[in-house]
Amino acid sequence: DRGAYPYYMLKEIDEQPAVLHRIQKTYFAEDGSLKIPADLLAAMQKADRLYIVGAGTSYHAGLVGKRLFEQLTQIPTEVVLASEFAYDNPILSDHPFFIFLTQSGETADSRQVLVRVNNEWQAPSLTITNAENSTLYREATYQLLLNAGPEIAVASTKAYTAQIAVEAVVAKALGMARHISTAKNFNLNHELSLAANAIQAIVDEKQTIKEIAHHNLAKTRNAFYIGRGVDYFVALEAALKLKEISYIHAEGFASGELKHGTIALIEDKTPVIAILTQERTASHTRSNIQEVKSRGAQVLTIVSENLAKPGDDIVIPTISELLLPLVSVVPAQLLAYYASLERGYNVDQPRNLAKSVTVE
Ligand code: F6R
Repeated sequence: DRGAYPYYMLKEIDEQPAVLHRIQKTYFAEDGSLKIPADLLAAMQKADRLYIVGAGTSYHAGLVGKRLFEQLTQIPTEVVLASEFAYDNPILSDHPFFIFLTQSGETADSRQVLVRVNNEWQAPSLTITNAENSTLYREATYQLLLNAGPEIAVASTKAYTAQIAVEAVVAKALGMARHISTAKNFNLNHELSLAANAIQAIVDEKQTIKEIAHHNLAKTRNAFYIGRGVDYFVALEAALKLKEISYIHAEGFASGELKHGTIALIEDKTPVIAILTQERTASHTRSNIQEVKSRGAQVLTIVSENLAKPGDDIVIPTISELLLPLVSVVPAQLLAYYASLERGYNVDQPRNLAKSVTVE
């Protein structure tokens, strides 16, 4: 029931702090230890490489997950598109472990990969899903639930943030089991509380984002998101949200790549939305902002408070850099939502799309 909300998507965006709290309750014990099954951790500890499989938004959550797994566990991690990997001839590592990210648990492309994992490669697998007893839940060796509650809007929002949070939980548990100091020193439970508070602060101020959508996205045909590192991964997700419900041609670009070709697309007043949450790369992205501005782009910034400068547009609270994708995506979700409303579309039921994609 969407109650007083005009669309499920807005309700689901607003629910994200509560979803993070539910994940904390599910996966942290009273004493602060993590509730991840010992047999799952033992199987993952045998892996020399993790393969994260997903489609669409779940693939984008996997890209952020790669950063979490590599930082917290030191195990090399690859992220693959299910529809590509299902028909590839990959050279797998000696001891691969597969992680399936799927909100619905029914995505045919992802299932096709799981069939190969089970029959051809006989490797262990974990499905992280919102749907208990779904096909990918049943057919994987191990399973963990997102507990995000039903996601009704076709455009995925809370499942994306829930997937990142559960990936962080698994990465932290595995890193602890491997005695990795970054994992030991990472107070994930506390950081998830900070992330929930930060998201709450953004949804409480959604009026500002509505106005930005009105001014910058109501009429445009194109829009570009740019960023580096995890900010680039969020840019991909942000662009997908915008295209699927507002039908604006949006792309996410690695900001350093602009000069290698894509900057040719910038015209007078083209909206370019830059995401800056990573200290190591923020000044580089600032230079890229100047490059597009001088070609006429209308630049908007989504910046974490510690990196903010006068004139920035959307300033988000600073939390651990590893978890900032949970927060920086939220203004982008809201921009997509309000752009769709401005243009008069059915936000929850975009054309040509289905909630669960059961064909290859
Ligand atoms: C985008 C979206 C899709 C899904 C994709 C995978 O908003 O919802 O890109 O993320 O179809 O679906 P699941 O996660 O159910 O496997």
